[in-house]
Amino acid sequence: MNYIRETMKRVTCIFLSCLLLAGCARSEKDVFIDSLLANMTLEQKIGQLNMLPVPSDIITGDKVNADFRELLKRDALGSVLNLTGAADVEALQKFAVDSSQLHIPLIFGLDVVHGYVTQMPVPLGIAATWNPENAEICGRISAAEATTEGLCLTFSPMVDITHDGRWGRIVEGSGEDPYLGSRFAEAYVRGFQGDMDGSVDVMASCIKHFAVYGAPIAGLDYMAVDMSRPFMFNYYMAPYEAAVKAGVATVMTSFNEVEGVPGCANRYLLQDVLRDKWGFDGVVVSDYNCVMQMINHGMGNADQVTALAANAGLDVDMSSCFYSKRLASCVRSGAVPESVVDKACRRMLELKYDLGLFEDPYRFCRQEAADSIICCQEHLNESRRMAAESFVLLKNKDNILPLNPEMKIALIGPFADDAKNILGSWTARGGRRPGVTILEGLREVCGNKVVAEPGCDICYDADLQKYWCWYRPVERLADASESERRALKAAKSADVIVAAMGEPALLTGEAASRVYIVIPDAQKDLLKKLAGLGKPVVLLLFTGRQIDLRWENEHLDAILNVWYPGSEAGRAIADVIYGKTNPGGRLPVTFPKCVGQLPYYYNHTPSGNPYLGDWQRNRSNYLDLDVYPLYPFGFGLDYTTYEYSDLVATAEEDGIRVSVELRNTGDRRGSEVVQLYIRDLAASISRPVAELKAFRKVHLEAGESVELEFFLSRQDLSFYNAETEFVFEPGAFNIMVGRNCRDVLKTKVTLN
Ligand code: NOJ
Repeated sequence: MNYIRETMKRVTCIFLSCLLLAGCARSEKDVFIDSLLANMTLEQKIGQLNMLPVPSDIITGDKVNADFRELLKRDALGSVLNLTGAADVEALQKFAVDSSQLHIPLIFGLDVVHGYVTQMPVPLGIAATWNPENAEICGRISAAEATTEGLCLTFSPMVDITHDGRWGRIVEGSGEDPYLGSRFAEAYVRGFQGDMDGSVDVMASCIKHFAVYGAPIAGLDYMAVDMSRPFMFNYYMAPYEAAVKAGVATVMTSFNEVEGVPGCANRYLLQDVLRDKWGFDGVVVSDYNCVMQMINHGMGNADQVTALAANAGLDVDMSSCFYSKRLASCVRSGAVPESVVDKACRRMLELKYDLGLFEDPYRFCRQEAADSIICCQEHLNESRRMAAESFVLLKNKDNILPLNPEMKIALIGPFADDAKNILGSWTARGGRRPGVTILEGLREVCGNKVVAEPGCDICYDADLQKYWCWYRPVERLADASESERRALKAAKSADVIVAAMGEPALLTGEAASRVYIVIPDAQKDLLKKLAGLGKPVVLLLFTGRQIDLRWENEHLDAILNVWYPGSEAGRAIADVIYGKTNPGGRLPVTFPKCVGQLPYYYNHTPSGNPYLGDWQRNRSNYLDLDVYPLYPFGFGLDYTTYEYSDLVATAEEDGIRVSVELRNTGDRRGSEVVQLYIRDLAASISRPVAELKAFRKVHLEAGESVELEFFLSRQDLSFYNAETEFVFEPGAFNIMVGRNCRDVLKTKVTLN
């Protein structure tokens, strides 16, 4: 309390003298921060740029064994990651405020990605809802829970676009499309941050990983990225920019090099693009140990890489301690101007100010609120609704789904009664509340009509299984063949087999690249045996990436891709498979036929010798497979059917107006995602065969129809040219509207 009174006295006093002396009004915040900075030594300023993890938590690099209290006494620590709990955070904050010389409170951050304790679907699943409002709700719920337990910064959302399902982090983003990704990026930021108006239930958001982290060579995490600038801007940059425009408070740099320079020292990205072009004025933080890793990248010794990062515009060093150990000497040697440190420190102090920490350092430690908010019914309901909306129905032969609750079900597979993997990766404190398993969810509807049996391990190789499930262990079966025997027996006497199979949660996420994007061997073999029984088989697919499903698509009756649905997984799955609600998801990524087609993205530019549907010499085709995907971008079935008609596109002064008629032609209520794509037919650089430019989710009763209208401005039709200028080039455009990027109605219009 003393500290706050003192601070306020000092602020008022300096504020008034400033007004008198300068004759102009500086904001209260500027005056406050000026006064703080004026009293800080170089080392203390650098202390604000030092972010360290609590060593006991999940960390994504080497352990840092720093004594936080020692550092705080010297004002050598500005923020902490991974410490949670109202009491623990409060205790450390109290030490920071009482025992440091400057009494500056700490920021506490964590990867709160798709929920804090209540888990919503993984981000790729949320993107599959094609409903950005869900991202906003996810951000809001996550922040509401996390901010009761001391946190005020989340390292989320990940807005990296990727074209490559080998890259495991695809699960953390919104897929392959820059337009869809942008709408979700800005929605997450709105959700986490609200208006950042001092409310205690919102937190600073951090978009990551700037930039183009999703395009590593061969889909291998942390590897280099190299691409032309027009490609970078036309395919990857929009979501970062959209989040900056939405007011995101912080940005995390990427591990990878871009054009030969790692993200945390890439001046072109951090200064020219992020700050100068987009006007970002918040905090830039490195990813875990990135500054140190620059030595491995071959960028120089410890002093050199520290100076490179600081001069490029990296404000905060996450966990490598290079700033805390080296930056002062870099400043003294003249390698880094002190003004660089001043600016970075000011940004950090501004963030603390905006979060209200100077006013009340303990405002995010609210045990009572934690007890009533965390996992409250409202949050669980939203999680369940969102999960059902994220499920993508990939196949539904003879309308086997929805099931009749009277049917006897054999629920087979390692995820049938799993409470952990269904939560996905990056689950913050989600482990505190096991998810509702599929078995539990189905039983609530059909009682003992469902029998469950794993039937197999995750994969045959026990070591691999251990490695794949490192902090979400899945016990090996005591007797796998006995379990298989029981599974087959149950399957034979059931009306329908529901197989809950796929990737364990940690097979996607950080450092989870794969070269075989298939259902793991033991599960696949059992699936084949089940399919041979002559009973209908419904696959509930657990995955955080595109999977090669050629065999499954050919041999199974239904495939429902449920990603990782979160806390209410079992209930959401029951809602959809019994038809209480329809599967609302559409693919935010193309599902290729096999890994050899990767990287795959629907919005590629046309070849000069395009594939024409059958193999021909000297055409852009593979010798051993066609070039089409298994399921195109935007694909997803419903329990009802739709018909599109009357597509009209008209050129107007400022853009193109598009209208289309949509009718629910089935006998059930449904929700369709109407997708609008364009193709710029001639331009100064080759333009994609299709680009998503608008979409709308529409709920229609059986037989109902609706006329939809869209407007595409010149800005919407613009692109980055060879000089990386954002330009509109007049001419003819194809306008395509439909259910996915392949099944569309098409018309042509010219805009001069
Ligand atoms: C490394 C990951 O790349 C990043 O996404 C995460 O925010 C940090 N570790 C902190 O956990």
